[in-house]
Amino acid sequence: MNSDQIIKKFEKLFKKKPLLIRSPGRINLIGEHTDYNDGFVFPAAINKEIHFAVAENNVDMFRFYALDLQESFELKIEDLARTETSWANYLLGVAAQFKKAGYELTGIDCVFGGDIPLGAGLSSSAAIENGFAFALKEFLNAPVTKIQMIKMAQKAEHEYAGVMCGIMDQFASMTGKKDHAIKLDCRSLDYEYANIDLKDYGILLCNTNVKHELASSAYNTRRQECETGVKILQKYDKKITALRDVSLQLLEQHHDEFDPTVYKRCEFVVKENWRVEEAFSALAKNDIKALGALMFKSHEGLRDDYDVSCKELDLLFDMAKKSEDVVGARMMGGGFGGCTINIVKKEKMSSFSEEIIKEYSKFTGMEPEIYTVNITDGTGLI
Ligand code: GLA
Repeated sequence: MNSDQIIKKFEKLFKKKPLLIRSPGRINLIGEHTDYNDGFVFPAAINKEIHFAVAENNVDMFRFYALDLQESFELKIEDLARTETSWANYLLGVAAQFKKAGYELTGIDCVFGGDIPLGAGLSSSAAIENGFAFALKEFLNAPVTKIQMIKMAQKAEHEYAGVMCGIMDQFASMTGKKDHAIKLDCRSLDYEYANIDLKDYGILLCNTNVKHELASSAYNTRRQECETGVKILQKYDKKITALRDVSLQLLEQHHDEFDPTVYKRCEFVVKENWRVEEAFSALAKNDIKALGALMFKSHEGLRDDYDVSCKELDLLFDMAKKSEDVVGARMMGGGFGGCTINIVKKEKMSSFSEEIIKEYSKFTGMEPEIYTVNITDGTGLI
């Protein structure tokens, strides 16, 4: 991503020099819908980013410009609240968290834009929240840690965007490290970096270019279903506070007490948590095939048991699974659209991409988008 246009627009609008910040999107190798169950995830920050040009103003206002939408937004600091402008809410939501934490807000001018496709499961919203949290930390001279900013960004999403997301996206975007994935324990927030060297393989993302309406309501329903499962098992062990604490054996023992749908949801989460541990070990042994096999299983669970896939994602998955050049693939993020992540032989990336474009267009009448990505550092100054 190149910031030139963002800087130019900022200087034109605000007639001063800005501070520059970059904030990346993320992929997730494995560990889907486990974060809000206090479980494990294995994401990484990628070179699809949002860039910010930011400076203080002395008019006590938030003055924002979204370059990609070519839209501006203004609000007096004293009127800070959720607004009708959904993109501005990501920034305002973060400012509200700083205010809640006791910081006195200052007027901020901000132009931002980037190349993270929207609604593609690559966490453009977390990137925006993190980038603005970083900007506020700088201008308010706030001694906040990365973990505090991550939590503020997540709260912004809950309170100003209305999605009860887990912590994975904000965490990955903020703590990303070049060429490393992050194995995160979403309960303790302890994390370990794993070097990602896939040898003869590379990471290819295929974007369905669809985002079904269902996405955010179904997300919140899945959370409730998991909580229902926890309540049933808590009767037998008070120490259970999340599905993270549940073994497959315990779940199976109480099978008959569950509504079948709730059972499938819980079984998926318990197995997916286990797959993250397995994937981490596979990668440490350079066993890319084992990693890939776990990714295939993850998709099948998300499709059949967690019910968050859709026909477009399944089509991309089926093509990947059939291909000799793909060692692992699955849908990524909340579901109901967005991208699949594929581990593809480097020398076959372009032929596989061509195949996908041809077949996907034939069956859906839509063009998919294909991205090769590199793993980068998290949110920071440019
Ligand atoms: C979305 C949420 C994350 C996580 C994933 C599913 O990306 O923002 O917190 O729950 O879905 O793994």
